[in-house]
Amino acid sequence: MKILVAGKGGVGKTTTSALLAYELSKKGYKVLALDTDSVPNLAQSLGLSFEEASRIVPLSRNDELAAERTGAKPGEGWGVFFSLTPKVDDLVEKYGIRLNSNLTLVVVGSIEQSKEGCLCPAIALAKAFLRHVLLEENEIVLVDSEAGAEVFGRGLAEKFDIMLCVAEPTLKSLQIAKKLLEMGKELEIDNLGLIVNKVRNKEAVPRLYSQVFSNAEIPFYMLSFDESIIEAENLDKGVEAVPEASPIKRDIKKLVENLFS
Ligand SMILES: Nc1ncnc2c1ncn2[C@@H]1O[C@H](COP(=O)(O)OP(=O)(O)O)[C@@H](O)[C@H]1O
Ligand SMILES: [Mg+2]
Repeated sequence: MKILVAGKGGVGKTTTSALLAYELSKKGYKVLALDTDSVPNLAQSLGLSFEEASRIVPLSRNDELAAERTGAKPGEGWGVFFSLTPKVDDLVEKYGIRLNSNLTLVVVGSIEQSKEGCLCPAIALAKAFLRHVLLEENEIVLVDSEAGAEVFGRGLAEKFDIMLCVAEPTLKSLQIAKKLLEMGKELEIDNLGLIVNKVRNKEAVPRLYSQVFSNAEIPFYMLSFDESIIEAENLDKGVEAVPEASPIKRDIKKLVENLFS
């Protein structure tokens, strides 16, 4: 199953991705977590310290690796011709960070091309890698993405089995989520889901939802606002430091049960 976690900045994509990744891995699924944000910080939510996380070079920034795999030579200016089908099948092995026996993280970084439209070799490599893992029979690939599905584009976006759009429990945030979900639908992602995160008042959410989503075609799930997420973060710890009995962990378990039933 290929899961895309999308949403506007700050809504809780990375936190949700980390919680989901651990919960699924503990249920026995093999999980490959990918961070495609331009400011990747999934590693920290998965428990690496700020120091450790800062040392990771995202694939889409790894010019040296790109030169090795695409044949483009750095320093000589990127040639017009370089391989767009580089070898990528060993990159999980080589660059994956193993968090437990079932959970591996690869920091891909942003695959968005520069405004000039130039496809640099490292981005070409990162895209080839994504294509590879999305087509392979991996058990679960979970992608923490910047904004929506559009950066993946046609040919790649529809490889996701589900797009979970995270939003905050406000009208504006839900309206933005609706737009992102519509884009996901246009890109032919079969299953769409809305995650309303940082919920303080559960009773208010269904009403808010029906204000924005007039026909209830998109299922929604709620995650509580939980101070323990912030506490863990401020101790430079990941979601594993959050107590099992906390509201957010309980909600994530429920979400996984719903998604995988
Ligand atoms: N359920 C929650 N309860 C309390 N704080 C949360 C919750 N989810 C996320 N946060 C906080 O909100 C901030 C943004 O979360 P993050 O997951 O980094 O968002 P995104 O990846 O969408 O930018 C973080 O500081 C995080 O601790
Ligand atoms: Mg994030």
